[in-house]
Amino acid sequence: MLPALVYLALAAFAAALLGSLHAGRVVVLHLVLAVGAMPLIFGAMSHFIPVLTRTRAPGAWLGSLPILALAGALLAMAAFSLPDMLWGRYAGACVAASAAIAMLIWSRGRRKTMLGRPHPGLAWYEAALACLVLALLAILASAFWPQQWAGLRRLHLHLNTLGFIGLTAVGTLAVLLPTVAGRPDPEVGPWLRRHLPWAVAGTLLVAVGAAWFGPLAWVGAVAWAIPSGRLGVRWLRRYRAEILAWHGAAPLLAAALAGFGLSILFGAAATFMPALAPTSVFVAGFLPPLVSGAATQLLPGWRRPGAQGAWHTELRRRLGRFGGVRAVLFCVGGIAGGMAREGGLLLSAATLLWFILQAVAAMMNTRTIPQEKVR
Ligand code: HEM
Repeated sequence: MLPALVYLALAAFAAALLGSLHAGRVVVLHLVLAVGAMPLIFGAMSHFIPVLTRTRAPGAWLGSLPILALAGALLAMAAFSLPDMLWGRYAGACVAASAAIAMLIWSRGRRKTMLGRPHPGLAWYEAALACLVLALLAILASAFWPQQWAGLRRLHLHLNTLGFIGLTAVGTLAVLLPTVAGRPDPEVGPWLRRHLPWAVAGTLLVAVGAAWFGPLAWVGAVAWAIPSGRLGVRWLRRYRAEILAWHGAAPLLAAALAGFGLSILFGAAATFMPALAPTSVFVAGFLPPLVSGAATQLLPGWRRPGAQGAWHTELRRRLGRFGGVRAVLFCVGGIAGGMAREGGLLLSAATLLWFILQAVAAMMNTRTIPQEKVR
């Protein structure tokens, strides 16, 4: 299931970035965020939550939650495209919110049944799911308060991008980059615990501020800059060699963190420079390096779970070839996209297509490698 969700996300990103010149903005954004990213995040959470709580693998029913989320996203997409289907927005929001609430209840249940304290990354995932539920409730609320539509739409936008996707991404990146580098960071647990309140406060202040009271959004952007900025500085101190490399997943994961920080910066700057396009930084400069970097590290283990062998090492090496070059191209694409240059989105789309083709070739060429144990 997880590899299929990775392929779906990559295909949705590439299709949306390529189609961005022709299709409507809301459709393109939901193709990337709701059809591509949301089901993948659900799949990744159902994989990581048992690890974070040291509990058994989930039952098969949990596999239906990413599909339920995808169904909600598809309903919303249909509603955006068909003029007579306004009800599809509300139905899509209900379906996706049910999937998020079910995942949240399951995660809370895992907390109760585990021995000891869960890994602090779990609280980041639960906060992210809570943001998604609130973001979808904002869409439902617009049916009752149409006069608040503009504010509720901005609330939905920021709770989803900075909250649902941002909290999941930064909470995962903090653990994933040290794993990729092969040198775990003993401080990552306390770091996650200390910085979650800043990230949650930042999300809520930006969302409420952008919806109803501008100055609050500035305070929120500063609050979010604290965890993301500190993580970046910490990485540069500990993992500089891996990040500034030609190959591997580390440059892409670092580019994703930089892209996230730039989205917040462009969002703040857009209040006095309306020509800027922060959501383009998010979809061209943050999500593609995040998903391609995470896929480079995690896809081999998801394709063949169990003992890590020569096949995993070789596939990871092939997926990560020229990861450093792609990281730079995604950064340039994100910044150009944020400055409303269409070429930026196309550059990111082309870079992502390069990764997809490289991944297909890597899978085909490693098929014959036996799965014997390497370490
Ligand atoms: C699956 C259920 C969802 C529904 C029913 C839904 C519904 C909507 C609606 C009705 C709008 C306003 C469209 C307009 O201005 O006409 C909107 C905007 C937006 N939504 Fe969603 N959404 C969903 C999921 C998501 C997710 C998962 C994300 C991100 C993770 C997301 C991000 C956004 C963004 C960024 C905008 C602003 C688009 C713009 O700038 O014009 N949505 N959504």
